[in-house]
Amino acid sequence: MKNDLILYASQNEYIDKLRGFTYSYFSEKGCKPKFFTFTFGCQQNESDTEKINGMLSDMGYEQTYCREEADIILYNTCAVRDHAEQRVMGTIGSLVGIKRENPSVIICFCGCMMQRPEVSEELKKKYKHIDLVFGPQAIGRFPENLYKAISDRERIFDVKNEDGTIVEEIPVKRASDYKAWVSVMYGCNNFCSYCIVPYVRGRERSRPPETILSEVESLVDSGYKDITLLGQNVNSYCNDSDSDWNFAKLLREISSIDGDFRIRFMTSHPKDATKELINTVAECNKVCKHLHLPFQSGSDRILSLMNRKYTRDKYISLVNYAKSVIPDLVLTSDVIVGFPTETEEDFQQTLSLVNEIDFQGLYTFIYSVRNGTPAAKMEQVEDFVKHERFNRLCELQNHKATEFNKRYIGKTVKVLVDGHMANNDSMMTGRTDGNVIVNFPSCNVDPGSFLFVNVDRALNWAVFGNAII
Ligand code: SAH
Ligand code: SF4
Ligand code: F3S
Repeated sequence: MKNDLILYASQNEYIDKLRGFTYSYFSEKGCKPKFFTFTFGCQQNESDTEKINGMLSDMGYEQTYCREEADIILYNTCAVRDHAEQRVMGTIGSLVGIKRENPSVIICFCGCMMQRPEVSEELKKKYKHIDLVFGPQAIGRFPENLYKAISDRERIFDVKNEDGTIVEEIPVKRASDYKAWVSVMYGCNNFCSYCIVPYVRGRERSRPPETILSEVESLVDSGYKDITLLGQNVNSYCNDSDSDWNFAKLLREISSIDGDFRIRFMTSHPKDATKELINTVAECNKVCKHLHLPFQSGSDRILSLMNRKYTRDKYISLVNYAKSVIPDLVLTSDVIVGFPTETEEDFQQTLSLVNEIDFQGLYTFIYSVRNGTPAAKMEQVEDFVKHERFNRLCELQNHKATEFNKRYIGKTVKVLVDGHMANNDSMMTGRTDGNVIVNFPSCNVDPGSFLFVNVDRALNWAVFGNAII
C-alpha cells in the first residue's frame, strides 16, 4: 500500500491531556463533560461521526442528545447539494444564542462542507462563535485540534488536503448494536462533472484488507448482524495500491467469516461493476442480494456530459446480467433530473430506463449547481422545468415500487428486526436482505434478531404481513 497509515495512538499526547481535563471536570462537578453531535449527509459521514463520538467517549466525555446542556457541540456537514448547505447555514445561525448564554461551550463544524475553501473562509470571517472547523481528511487530528481549541481558546481551522493518508484504530461509538458501517476506502477519483465529493474528500485511499477483515470479525463476535461496507466507489477498492486485492475478493473473504450476519455495500459505480463482482454477490450466501447501482440519467448525451463513462446500453446489459444470475435481486439507484442542457427528450430516456429496469427504490435528486465543478459552467435548466420533471419521475417510480413490492405478497421473507415503527407501538419494522422495509404487528422480539414474516400487502415504500413465531 502506498498510503501512509497514521494511528490514533499518534495523538496520545493530546488524548492524555484531554483525559486529564475531563477527569478534573468530573472531580469538580461530579459529572462528565457532555458532547452533542449531529450528522448531515451520507453514510460515510454517519460513520465519521461514530468515530468522533468514539474519540470523545474515549477521552472521558459523555454523549447527550440535548444541545443546550452540551460542553461540546459538533455538526458533521455535507456539501453534495445546495439544500444540504442551507441547512448547515441555518444551524450556524441558531448557535449564536447558545454561545452567548454559555461562552465556554466549544462549537465545532466538520465534514465535507468545511473542506470547501469559500465556506471555511466565510466561517472564519463572519461567524466568530465557531471555535473549531475541520475537513473530513483531518479527523485523525481531532484530539489535537480539540485540545488547542479548549486550552488556548484559539479558533482552529484545519482544512488541508491530505491525499494519501489513512487513519486507523480510532475508537468507534456505534449508534446501533446490530448494524454497523465499515469503510473500505475513502475519497473518490471519478470527478463526475456535477459532483463536489472528489474535491472535498480527496483521492481514493483503500484500507488494508487485514484491518477490514479484523474489524468485521470483531463486529460479528460482538453480535453485529448487518454490516455495510462503505466507499464512494467500492469497485475501485485497491486500485490505488500494487496489491492483487479487489472488491470481489474482499467480499468473498468477509463472507467466509463464521456467523449469522449479512453484508451490504455501497456504492458501486456502473463503469467498473464487473461480472466477477456480480457473480460474487450471487455465490456468497452472506452477501445481500441487493445492488445499489446509480445510473444518474437514461440519456447517453447527458451521461457523457456527466463524465460517467458508461452508456445506457452498457448499464442495461449489466443489470440484465445481474438479474439473470441473482433471481431475487433487489435493485436501487440514484438519478439526477435537470442536469445542465437536459431536454425533454433526454428526460424521456430517463423515464424509459426507470420503466424498463424495475428498481425497488430510487433516490431522486434535482440537479444542484456546485461551484468549482465543470457542470456549474454549463447551460442550466430552468427551476420550474426541473421541478416538473422531478414530480413526473417520482410519480412513475411510486407506481413501479408498488408493483415491485407486490411481488412479495404471498411470500415469506427473512427480516432483521429494527424495533417499533416511529409513533406506532402496535407495529414493528425491519428489513429484508434486499433492504425492503417490512412492517408487522408487534410481537415479543428484540431489535437485531432475525424473524420470518408472511407478506400480505404492499405499498410503494414498504410491505406488510404477519410474523411467524
Ligand atoms: N459515490 C456515489 C454517490 C455519492 S453522492 C456514486 O457515485 O454513486 C450521492 C448522490 O447524490 C449521487 O449518486 C447523485 O445522484 C447525487 N448528487 C451528487 N451531486 C449532485 C448534484 N450536484 N446535484 C444533485 N444531485 C447530486
Ligand atoms: Fe461523486 Fe461520481 Fe465520485 Fe460518486 S463517483 S462521489 S457521484 S464523483
Ligand atoms: Fe457524503 Fe455529503 Fe460528503 S453525500 S461524502 S457527506 S458531500
